[in-house]
Amino acid sequence: MTAVKPVLCVGCTVIDFVTINESFPTEDTDRRCLDGYWQRGGNASNVSTVLRLLGANVDFFGMLSRSNGFRVLLDDLDQRGIGIQHCPKTEKDPPFSSVIIVKETGSRTIVHCNKNYPYITWEDFRKIDLDRYGWVHFEARQSQETIKMIKTVQEHNRNHNSNILISLDFETTFEKNLPLCGLCDYVVFSSELASQQGWKSSQETCYALASSLKPECPSIICPWGSTGAACLDTVFNKFSNVAAFKPDHIVDTLGAGDSFMAGFIYATYVMQCSLSDAVSFANRVAGHKITDFGYDHIAELQADNKLATK
Ligand SMILES: *[C@@H]1O[C@H](CO)[C@@H](O)[C@H](O)[C@H]1NC(C)=O
Ligand SMILES: *[C@@H]1O[C@H](CO)[C@@H](O)[C@H](O)[C@H]1NC(C)=O
Ligand SMILES: *[C@@H]1O[C@H](CO)[C@@H](O)[C@H](O)[C@H]1NC(C)=O
Repeated sequence: MTAVKPVLCVGCTVIDFVTINESFPTEDTDRRCLDGYWQRGGNASNVSTVLRLLGANVDFFGMLSRSNGFRVLLDDLDQRGIGIQHCPKTEKDPPFSSVIIVKETGSRTIVHCNKNYPYITWEDFRKIDLDRYGWVHFEARQSQETIKMIKTVQEHNRNHNSNILISLDFETTFEKNLPLCGLCDYVVFSSELASQQGWKSSQETCYALASSLKPECPSIICPWGSTGAACLDTVFNKFSNVAAFKPDHIVDTLGAGDSFMAGFIYATYVMQCSLSDAVSFANRVAGHKITDFGYDHIAELQADNKLATK
C-alpha cells in the first residue's frame, strides 16, 4: 500500500474562551462560574484536530499571529503534529470567541471578536507545493480569494495529471459562496443555511442545491441534526439518507459539525468508503464527539475504523 498523502485544511484558527455555568449570567452582575477553559477553535482548525486524532496526516493553512497570546495555539498545533509550515504570519492580535455554556439547558451562546484579522490570500496559497497533498479542504468564506485557491488546485490536477480531491464546508452567505461549489468534489451544506433558503428537508436541500449548480455538480452532503444526514452522489446520481448515530449521553456539542466534516474526509479519503458509508462514519464521529468535552476521546474510534476498512 502506498502512503496516503496528507490533507491540507484551509481556513481559520481562533482562541475560544469557554465559560460553563448552571445559569446564564444576568447583565451588569459580577459572579463566579462553575468551570471554564480556553482552547484552539476555528472550523478548519478543528477539522485538522479531528483528522489527526483519527490518524490522518494533516497540514493547516491559515493566518497565524506573532502576538504572545497566540503562542498557546501554536504549541497546541505543534503538540498534535499538525503542520503549519506554509502559514503566513501577522503582527495583529488573534481573533477570539467568547462561549457561554449553560449546563442545565445545554445552550451555547457564542460571541465572535474578529477585529478585521486578515484572511489568507491566493498570493499566499499559490506558493504551496500542492504535490505534497491528496486532499484540500476549504471553508466557504472570502469567496473571491477562495475561488482562486480552488482553481489553483484544479489547475495543478490538470497540469500534473493528479487527482487532489477538494471539499468545501458551506455554512454561511449563500449567494457569495455558491460559485465555489461547482469547483469542488464534495460540498457539506449546513441545515441552517438550507432553512434560510426555505429548503425544508435534507433531501430537498440536496436536489435544490444540485439543480442550482448544473452542469458542474459536486457530491452534496447535508447533515440535518438528529434526523441524520442526506447525501447525493452526483457521479452515480444516487441519493441516500443516513441515520444519525445516537449516543446514550450528551456532554458537549461544540465542534460536532467539524467532527462530522473530519470523519467524512477520513472515511472517503483514507478508508476509501462509498459516499453513504463515509456519511455514516461521519455521523459516528460526530455522535461520539458529543459524549465528552473537547476532541481527544475521538482517538478511541481509530481502533474501530481499522476493522471497518476492507
Ligand atoms: C452561575 O450559576 C449560579 C447558579 O444558578 C448563579 O448563582 C451564578 O450567578 C452564575 N454565574 C454566572 C457568571 O452567571
Ligand atoms: C472548534 O472547537 C472548539 C473546541 O472544542 C470549540 O470551542 C469551537 O466551538 C469549535 N468550532 C469553531 C467554529 O470554533
Ligand atoms: C463554523 O462552524 C460553525 C458551527 O458549525 C458555524 O456556525 C459557522 O457558520 C462556521 N463558519 C463558517 C465560516 O463556515
